Amino acid sequence: MKVRDGMTTLVLTIGPVHTLREASRLMSSRRVGAAVVIDPEHSGVGILTERDILDSLGAGQDPDIELAAAPRTIDVVYASPDWTLEQAAATMVRAGFRHLVVVEGDEVTGYLLGQSKPGKAWGPNAWVEAAGQAVSQAETVRDLYAAAGQEWVQQDLSAHYVLVPAHDSALVDAWFRLGFGLQHVHGICEVPDQPSTPPAHLTIRAARREDIPVLAELDLALPAHQATAPTWSAGEVPTLEEAVADWEESFDDEGWGYLVAEQDRRVVGAAVGCALEESSTHKSLTLPDHAGFLGFAAVLPEARGLGAGRALGEATFDWMRDNGFTSAVTDWRATNLLSSRTWPRLGYRPSFLRLHRHLGY
Ligand SMILES: CC(C)(COP(=O)(O)OP(=O)(O)OC[C@H]1O[C@@H](n2cnc3c(N)ncnc32)[C@H](O)[C@@H]1OP(=O)(O)O)[C@@H](O)C(=O)NCCC(=O)NCCS
Repeated sequence: MKVRDGMTTLVLTIGPVHTLREASRLMSSRRVGAAVVIDPEHSGVGILTERDILDSLGAGQDPDIELAAAPRTIDVVYASPDWTLEQAAATMVRAGFRHLVVVEGDEVTGYLLGQSKPGKAWGPNAWVEAAGQAVSQAETVRDLYAAAGQEWVQQDLSAHYVLVPAHDSALVDAWFRLGFGLQHVHGICEVPDQPSTPPAHLTIRAARREDIPVLAELDLALPAHQATAPTWSAGEVPTLEEAVADWEESFDDEGWGYLVAEQDRRVVGAAVGCALEESSTHKSLTLPDHAGFLGFAAVLPEARGLGAGRALGEATFDWMRDNGFTSAVTDWRATNLLSSRTWPRLGYRPSFLRLHRHLGY
């Protein structure tokens, strides 16, 4: 199979004479953050990213005049298969490139796009998002990583992350054979047709303003749990005051479903549902249509294992159904023994896997 054929199911291919406005319309309708620009008049390809469009608008250029082919192609390295990896890497380092495309003849056989994500918990990192890679043969990703990773390492970016479709076992295996391990799971399931019934010892209801103190306590319970074995996450734990202020500010926001679980008239757990578009971690290919997001759930430590997590998870399905969502998405740390056991029990199946590799030792 030609890669170009394979890639159109995964990424967007556009011509050089598309204007930036047309390109951004196509990118947003396909929900991708990058497009491969193929110019039949010239060999090689270019990559147009969301960032390029923002930069162009920021520079005051007219999106109805600027063309997709314009200077953005300079942000890409074309590595022909005759190049050694060292040549490709050296070129990338020299020019400060992040993007690597392999071209065989006039065919694209794979590409890898890395970028750095801000945030202390990620370390000095290079991220490959779901739309940031496509290869005709899984094995090619190992060569792409060797070349692109060389540049990252030279820039002291020692924490590497990649989002891989969970069903693509050959690709997952290729990344495993590059020293990557499983950090995080994105899960998806259909929103059930029928409303849920909580167990008799629990009441599930919409959160009220007077719940804010316990909602704030539950906000802290998640990072506190993830800081423990065997996750040992470096995620920051806010103070109780910060969590209260956050809830006070966002409590009346429209489009969010705040639910609590009560046992003996005491709130013991909470869950939050919203549109998946609200999430910053689910973008481009990981953003299906009409999807609701289980964005947060926690149960107080002393009430765990008694069904509140399931009841809250099912109540968010009810909220999603009532709000027109047909599928539900959530995500969890693979090492979080509680969430990684709870969400699959509710029907969530892995859709994308976040793999990571930390260099140094
Ligand atoms: C994750 C969490 C919300 C789940 O709530 P909970 O009240 O403990 O969960 P439940 O008692 O409803 O159990 C949920 C399901 O997991 C299953 N489960 C729990 N422990 C299990 C184990 N050790 N092995 C296998 N399954 C297990 C339960 O059997 C249940 O499935 P079932 O209803 O089909 O029997 C809660 O444990 C929690 O707050 N954890 C800390 C914060 C956190 O990780 N939040 C989620 C972030 S993504």
